[in-house]
Parts: sequence; structure tokens; C-alpha cells
Amino acid sequence: MANERGYSLATWTSFIEESQIRSLLKYKVKYYFGGGKPGIIPTDIFADIMADLSIRYKEDSKLALDDLNYGPTGGQPWFLKTLAKRLCDVRKIPINCEDDWDHVSITNGSQQALYAILDTLIDPGDVIITPSPAYLGFLVPAVKLGARVLTVNTDNEGIIPEQVERAIHLSKIKFGKVPDLLYVVPDSDNPKGTTLSMKRRQALFDICENHNILLLEDSAYAEIQFKNTVKAIKTLDKDNTRVAYLGTSSKEAAVLRVGYSVMPDAVRDQVLKDKGYLDLCTATLVQRILDEYYSKYIDQAMKDGVPKYKERYEAMAKAMDEFFPGGDRTDPTGGFFIWWKSDDPKFDSSEFMERVAIPNDLLYVPGAPFYPIVGHQLTEDGNDIIPSVPEADTMRLGFSYATSDVIAEGIEKLGKLLTKEIG
Ligand SMILES: Cc1ncc(COP(=O)(O)O)c(C=O)c1O
Repeated sequence: MANERGYSLATWTSFIEESQIRSLLKYKVKYYFGGGKPGIIPTDIFADIMADLSIRYKEDSKLALDDLNYGPTGGQPWFLKTLAKRLCDVRKIPINCEDDWDHVSITNGSQQALYAILDTLIDPGDVIITPSPAYLGFLVPAVKLGARVLTVNTDNEGIIPEQVERAIHLSKIKFGKVPDLLYVVPDSDNPKGTTLSMKRRQALFDICENHNILLLEDSAYAEIQFKNTVKAIKTLDKDNTRVAYLGTSSKEAAVLRVGYSVMPDAVRDQVLKDKGYLDLCTATLVQRILDEYYSKYIDQAMKDGVPKYKERYEAMAKAMDEFFPGGDRTDPTGGFFIWWKSDDPKFDSSEFMERVAIPNDLLYVPGAPFYPIVGHQLTEDGNDIIPSVPEADTMRLGFSYATSDVIAEGIEKLGKLLTKEIG
């Protein structure tokens, strides 16, 4: 494909657009319910860590030279050991804390891990199963790499295992392929905010075992839980062969672009090979800062921070219940998002946002981008696969960034504008 300068650009540039969430970042609004920006970051802790490091670096120039240098692609061993300990102690991931630290690797954000895993597994035409709707940061790279994305129905508990089983069966018949990958965000999903029960986690694990499918468990919101946590699917993967488990510091620490993962060895080796060509390594200085955080401060930071997110969620849910017109919202027990679907199927949340919400200082993410731009969906009765259709009458509302007061005020305003439009 040639552009106006005559450069011959790759084909994907003509059908992949800038991420809708990224493009929304340009708007500076009073009522921000857009991207999953953490609003509660323990900035004092990070200021202390950096002040302490500045003294240490002045006293120890060898340490400074090492920390300001290149390092291993998969992460510095001292940082991986710290992460391994947290994964064992808190998340109960079945690795030996002391000896298996090299099962843990880091990437530049878990986004890079998602991309590199897709890059490692997918040849054009391969099939991937995701919930409907699903995190667009996974969907778009999957489509870009030529995957056939097959979306499966969800309810208020997330993806439905029986439907996954149906999707695999129909994928074999229709595409002649067993899917390569099942992608889920089990704890407070993005975008719906739903959490998979242990029963569903076990069922999904069993399905992937039976059909030899890699289960990609994206646990971005696992530490941001308002009630009891459900054990990770990875806890079922005793010999580290079935589940690629991803975590991120972005939601539980700060957006320093560090994701961490425990992947089956064969997948990990290829993902790190890929990462080696993508960025050579993750900045050592950033690993040092996070090493301090994860070894000394995270427990207190979560104890202080999570209840504040809960308060923001409650402010949003209450205002939605009071002021939104007819529709359904999800009822998350953690994470950053509530999902809302209008009772009016003609409502277009994208058009409404441009025309009404943004001029009124309000931002959310319209629902359509959480469906693949080109893809397939399982029909509701589970009997067929049809081209994927985005549900434009939906929206994702993020409660992580604005304070509770701003949320209450903004959601009232949004609810009244919506009611005027469709109520
Ligand atoms: C479900 C999910 N996975 C992955 C990411 C990427 O996170 P990061 O690259 O900041 O680690 C996000 C970011 O919002 C997310 O919501």
C-alpha cells in the first residue's frame, strides 16, 4: 500500500486504527471515566524510594552504573526473586519461591507480553477465543497478526465455559482448526468488570487441558479486589504447562511499564526471544524502584489504596442507579470498570460521546471497540459462528481516576443527558 509520499506501507496500517483508548487521552475533561488510569498511586512511597536511591547511587557508583545499564531481557534476577515471592505468598502461584524465580519474567507492561505471546503463537488464520466483549488491547493486536478472533458470550460472571466448549467444537468444523489460545481476565475483567467463579475457572482449565489450548490468564486487576479474592487459574497448573499468567505493576504500583509473567517454558523462551528484538530489555532503574516497592511497601499500599477504589466504585454505582435511564450495568467486586448496556438498541454510545458527552466535559469509552473489528462470534444458542457485530449501545465507565465527589457529580450529569436522549 502506498501513501501520499509513495512509501509502501505494510497492509495492516490500512485497517488497524489507533487504539480508541489512546486517542481519547487527548481530551482533558472534568469528568474522566475513560481509560484504566490508576488515580490512587502511593506517590509518597515512590518519592521516598527515589530519594533513598539517589543517596545510594551517590555512595555506590558501581550500583549506579549497573542500575543505569542494560540488563537481561527477561529481568534482573534480584527483581524476579522478589516477584516470585509475592506470586507464591499472595497469589499462591505453584512455583517454588526460592528456586523457581527464573520461571518469572518481566516485559514492558503486560501489554508487551500480550503482544509477544500472540506473536509467538499466531500464524494468519489461527483461531483465538475471547470473551465478548474483551480487552481491546488484546483484540486489536490479535487481528493485526491475522488471527481469527472468535468471541464467546458472557454473563454477569464472565465467559461461559459451556459456550467455550461449543466454540471449540464449531471452530473445528468451520475453520478446520482447534483454537490456539483462550484469553480471559478472570478478576474484574476489562471491560465488563465481572469475576469468574472458581467453578468456571476450573471448567475453563479442564477444557484447555482436554483440547490442548494455551490459557492466557491476564490478572491485571487481581490485587484490586474489594471482597474475597478467587484463586488464580494458574494455581491449577501445577506443572506450569497450560496457563500463561500475566500480572502488571500498572494497577497495583505505578505505571512504570512493567508486567510480570509465569509462562510454560516453551512459550516463555519464544516470548523473551521476541522481547529481545522489541526492546532488548526493561530499564534496570525501573526494576530497582519496583523491587523496593514489592519487597517493602506493597502490602500497606494495597491496604490503603483498595478501599479508596471501592469508595469510587460505590459512588459510581449509586449515581448510575439513581440517574441513568433504562439499561443494565455490571456489579464489579474489584478492578476499575463498570459496563453499561442501554435498553434502547438504537442508542449509539460513540456518536453520543462526540456530540453530547465531550462538549459537556464528560468522557467514557464507547463499547464498540471491545468487539473485534473483523472477527467471529458464537451465536447466543451456541449453534453457529457468525461475523462479529459490535454492540454500539454499550459503554465502559472507569471509576479509577476521578475522586468520589467528581464521580457522583459527573455520573449524575451523564445520566441526565442520557435520559434526555433516550429516557
Ligand atoms: C486487562 C488488561 N490487560 C493488560 C493491560 C495492559 O497493562 P500494562 O501494559 O500497563 O501492564 C491492561 C491495561 O489497562 C488491562 O486492562
